[in-house]
Amino acid sequence: MSEVVERWGSRRAFIIAVTGAAVGLGNIWRFPWMTGENGGAAFLMLYVVFLVLLGLPVMIAEIMIGRAGRRTPIQALTHLARDAGKSRHWGWLGLFCGVTLFFILSFYSVVSGWSIEYLVDALSGHFASQSPQEIGSAFDAFLASPGRVLFNHTLFLFLTMSVVALGVGGGLERLNNLLMPLLYLLLVLLVGYAFTTSGFTAALAWLFMPDLSALTPMAIFNAMGHAFFTLAVGAGALMTYGAYMPDDQSLPRAVVTVAILDVAVALMAGIAIFSIVFSQNMAPDSGPGLMFVTLPIAFADLPGGALWLGAFFVLLLLATWTSSINLAEPMVAMLGSLGMARWLAAVLIGVGVWLMGLPSALSFSIWSDVRPFGDMTLFDLATTLPIDIMLPIGGLLIAFFAAWVMEGTRASMAIGAGERFYRHWRAVVRWVSIPLLVVVLVGFFLS
Ligand code: TRP
Repeated sequence: MSEVVERWGSRRAFIIAVTGAAVGLGNIWRFPWMTGENGGAAFLMLYVVFLVLLGLPVMIAEIMIGRAGRRTPIQALTHLARDAGKSRHWGWLGLFCGVTLFFILSFYSVVSGWSIEYLVDALSGHFASQSPQEIGSAFDAFLASPGRVLFNHTLFLFLTMSVVALGVGGGLERLNNLLMPLLYLLLVLLVGYAFTTSGFTAALAWLFMPDLSALTPMAIFNAMGHAFFTLAVGAGALMTYGAYMPDDQSLPRAVVTVAILDVAVALMAGIAIFSIVFSQNMAPDSGPGLMFVTLPIAFADLPGGALWLGAFFVLLLLATWTSSINLAEPMVAMLGSLGMARWLAAVLIGVGVWLMGLPSALSFSIWSDVRPFGDMTLFDLATTLPIDIMLPIGGLLIAFFAAWVMEGTRASMAIGAGERFYRHWRAVVRWVSIPLLVVVLVGFFLS
C-alpha cells in the first residue's frame, strides 16, 4: 500500500484526536481502581515516574513511526525497516500490536457497557432514593446478571464498529471535542463537592502522601501497564494517527499537551472518588466497581443528582467511544490493507471482539469460579494480560525500533522538533526507557 496523503486539517486536530484516544475509562475508571488497590500515593508516584520515563518517550516513538511510515502499522514498520536495510520481519510487530488491541477492546467494550446500564439507571432516577449500601449491592447484582451485561456489551461494540465501518470517526471526534470540556467541568464540580465532604482531607493524604511500604512488585507492574494504557501507547494505535500528522508540527509539544490533560482528568476523578470512599467508610481497594459505586452516591447527595449523573455517564460514554474507535481502527485498517472491504473487516473484528469479551462479561456471573491461574478471575486475566504484559512488550519493541532500527535522519525529521531534541530523546529511550522496561518485565516474569 502506498503512503497516505491526507493530513489533519489543523495542528489542533491532531491533538484532539490523540486526546480522544487517551482520555477514557483508563482515567476515570481504572486509575482510581488501581490506585485504591495499590496503596494510594505510592502507586500515583510510580505511575507518574513511568509516565515521564516510559509513556512519553514511547509515545513519541510510536507516533514518529506512523508519521515517517505514513501507512498502517504492519506496513509502516516493514517499509521503514527495509529502507534502513534491516529485517522485514519487523512487520510482525504490527501484528502483535493488532492482537493487543483486540484483547483490550474486548474488555473495554464490556466495561463501557456497564456505563450504558448506569446511564439508563441514572436517568430513571434509580439511585436517588437509595442508601450507599443499596447502591453498592445494586452494582454486584447487575454484574451477576449475564443478560444485562451482555446486552450492553453488544450495544456498545455495535456503536463502535458502526462508526469504524462507516469511516465517520472524524465527525464523532468533532462532537467529542465540543463536549469534552463539559466532562472536565463536571469533574471540577465533583472535586468541589468532594471538598465539602468529610473524606476530602483523607483522600488528599491517600493520594499524595506516599506510604513506601505499599511499593509491592504488583504495584510496579500495574503502574507501568497503566502508564501505557492511559496514554493509548504500546499497541501501534497512535501510529495510525501519526500517519496523518502534518510535516511542520512539533511532536513533543503535542504529546506533552495530551499527557497533561490526561493526568489532570485522572487526578480529578481520583480526588472525587476517594473523598466519597473515605466519607462513606468504604474500602479503597473495592476493585473494578469503585467508580460505579462511588459516583452514584455522590450525585444522589446533590440537588438534581439524577440528571447530573446521567450527564456524567453520557460524557464518559463519549470519551470511551472515541477511545474504542482508536482501538478498533488500526485492526480494521490492517485487514483493509490486505484488500478486504472496510465493512467486512469491521464485521469480522466486531464478531471476534464480541466473543473475546465473553470471559470478561461472564466473569462476575456464571464463570465467576473459573480461575485458571491462582485466584485471578477471568476479568483480572482479561485486563492484566493485555495491559500489564502486552502493552509494555509492544512499547519496548516500538521504542527499540524507533531508537535503534529506523534511520536517524528520518526519525529526527518525524519528531519535528530539531536535531538536538531528537538526540536527547534518543539517548533517553536507549539508555533509560529500554533498560527500565527490560528490568521491570524480567522482574515480572521471574516473580
Ligand atoms: N487510553 C484509553 C483509556 O485510557 C484506552 C485506549 C484507547 C488505549 N486506545 C488505546 C489503550 C490504544 C492502549 C492502546 O481509556
